[in-house]
Amino acid sequence: MDLLAESLKRIKPSPTIAVTDMARALKAAGRDVIGLGVGEPDFDTPDNIKQAAIRAIESGKASKYTAVDGIPELKAAIARKFKRENGLDYKPNQIIVGTGGKQVLFNALMATLDPGDEVIIPAPYWVSYPDIVLLAGATPVIVQTRLEDGFKIKPEALDKAITRKTKWLIFNSPSNPTGAAYTRAEVKAVTDVLMKHSHVWLLSDDIYEHLVYDDFAFHSPAQVEPGLYERTLTLNGVSKAYCMTGWRIGYAGAPEHLIKAMATLQSQSTTNANAAAQWASVEALDGPQDFIPKHNKIFKERRDLCVSMINQANGLKCPKPEGAFYIYPSCAGALGRTTPSGKKLASDQDFVTELLAEVGVAVVQGTAFGLGPAFRISYAVATPVLEEACRRIQRFCGNLK
Ligand SMILES: Cc1ncc(COP(=O)(O)O)c(C=O)c1O
Repeated sequence: MDLLAESLKRIKPSPTIAVTDMARALKAAGRDVIGLGVGEPDFDTPDNIKQAAIRAIESGKASKYTAVDGIPELKAAIARKFKRENGLDYKPNQIIVGTGGKQVLFNALMATLDPGDEVIIPAPYWVSYPDIVLLAGATPVIVQTRLEDGFKIKPEALDKAITRKTKWLIFNSPSNPTGAAYTRAEVKAVTDVLMKHSHVWLLSDDIYEHLVYDDFAFHSPAQVEPGLYERTLTLNGVSKAYCMTGWRIGYAGAPEHLIKAMATLQSQSTTNANAAAQWASVEALDGPQDFIPKHNKIFKERRDLCVSMINQANGLKCPKPEGAFYIYPSCAGALGRTTPSGKKLASDQDFVTELLAEVGVAVVQGTAFGLGPAFRISYAVATPVLEEACRRIQRFCGNLK
């Protein structure tokens, strides 16, 4: 008898984590490798947030289990955040805290999906969306976007993809892997489609909300279309803006009955998110926010640098995205060519493999995100390192025959 469950055979290890591991292993073996694969800020967690966790540990507040859906202090801070930044009213019983946004997403999909249900996912997408849908036994319905449209879904394409079986649209702005962020009007065009289909729920993944540049104004869908509030789950977390990926705290606001179901599921898996990290997150949300624009200034400079350098590389083309810390260049113009060592590039997988082998730069192939030929660069690395990586990419592309 096979040990492994059928459901597990439907999914694969996260390809972005795989690239990071590969770059780490090559580095450990002494190779000069620059990793641009990882999806986390290179900045450290701000000190006031660390201190809040230390205080919680020392005072004994972090020693015991907490309520499954989060400590009341954090849920109150989250409710304030939703009101202050998104104009959204969520009561504490409409909020859940989990071990990262990923667990909250997992809870939401596992609590709602049955075999036969469909979930619309615009591509390119964050790698975990389709795999969690598959694990739940449901069907991801991938809707392609185009580089020419800034990788944003067209309302007509969304409308066409909706069937009687559609349960969710997963909406992610700013996006991993493209950095694309929807303007208010673009969000409205999406919510207008959903208003016509009253059985479809909206899962809005706002985790990169704060990472937007050039005065871009972020809008969450339930804020743009209050008519969708009763069937929207607004997902967020402290990982990205607060440089807390290791702390593992994510949260969501949604109608009470959905939050309750998610808490039931969580009560039978992780129980509660780490208590010290929850206290740190209270400080993150309630404390000073001034480091965010400081970080954004640096991220914006890096984005501008690498978009400009990548567009100067032979065969690459890249739009300038509004947010996150990713760019998503097309490598269509490099395919069919041959590396100096004689390898012909037939796919974006070949492109990233040879890029790593020839010049020691690790990026993630676009096919992992459902739209190729392309690759994702994470520019959350020190600026001189990023510049050197882009120079190497230019050299690699320039040497293709
Ligand atoms: C689009 C998107 N959503 C959610 C997450 C989850 O982040 P975490 O589990 O660290 O909160 C990530 C992390 O990479 C992400 O890129």
